[in-house]
Amino acid sequence: MSVVIAVDGPSGAGKGTLCVKLAKALGFSLLDSGALYRILGLASVDAGVAVDDEPALAELAKTIDVDFVPGEPGEPVGVMLNGIDVTSKVRLESTGALASKVAPHPMVRAALLETQRSFAQKGGLVADGRDMGTVVFNDAPLKIFLTASAQARAERRLLQLQSKGEDVNFATLLDEIEARDARDMGRAESPLRPADDAWQLDSTTKSIDEVFAEVMAEAQRRQLV
Ligand code: DC
Repeated sequence: MSVVIAVDGPSGAGKGTLCVKLAKALGFSLLDSGALYRILGLASVDAGVAVDDEPALAELAKTIDVDFVPGEPGEPVGVMLNGIDVTSKVRLESTGALASKVAPHPMVRAALLETQRSFAQKGGLVADGRDMGTVVFNDAPLKIFLTASAQARAERRLLQLQSKGEDVNFATLLDEIEARDARDMGRAESPLRPADDAWQLDSTTKSIDEVFAEVMAEAQRRQLV
């Protein structure tokens, strides 16, 4: 099996940007597991499947054929679905909210397990998610748990959305982030938590370049790269 760097943490901690930088610097593939749940959320709307219809969602999950392309520095991972670029739709706040509703179902998570593991078949892999270190790649030689305060994450998200010309309110964003955290951490199946052997990093007062440099140094110290 190839070298896997598992990166978990709450939404907005900087995992996406960190993973793109790592994958590019190391020439590793990239798995954005959140995008799989996001695509499933979108597909469920298209197919008229309710977010609580677990068996139907699991069937739908098996049909997802997705690929990721690291974009320009600072840009999110590009998401290709059946060869079509669906990045902007996948990144909408509303899609993230849908994803967190389809993701808690055990049958859905089981259906997406092999899809996720298949990304580790070709060379090294940087895997971004909530349960990369605890479940999907629980034997990864480097597990990062990246956090930041909810306040800092809401501020970053506000700047990101404003730069795209979206009209958003800080208090609403903070509420959404806290509600998403509660759903991700409170669910019974694969809740968001650091693996016992995870290396924990808090990015509240750190730039992405500082976080990247620390992770690269740790990967080198462990002789993974
Ligand atoms: O990282 P993200 O914002 O794209 O994730 C969207 C949702 O998907 C998030 O609310 C939790 C869920 N998710 C998950 O349950 N397991 C993962 N490995 C990744 C994301």
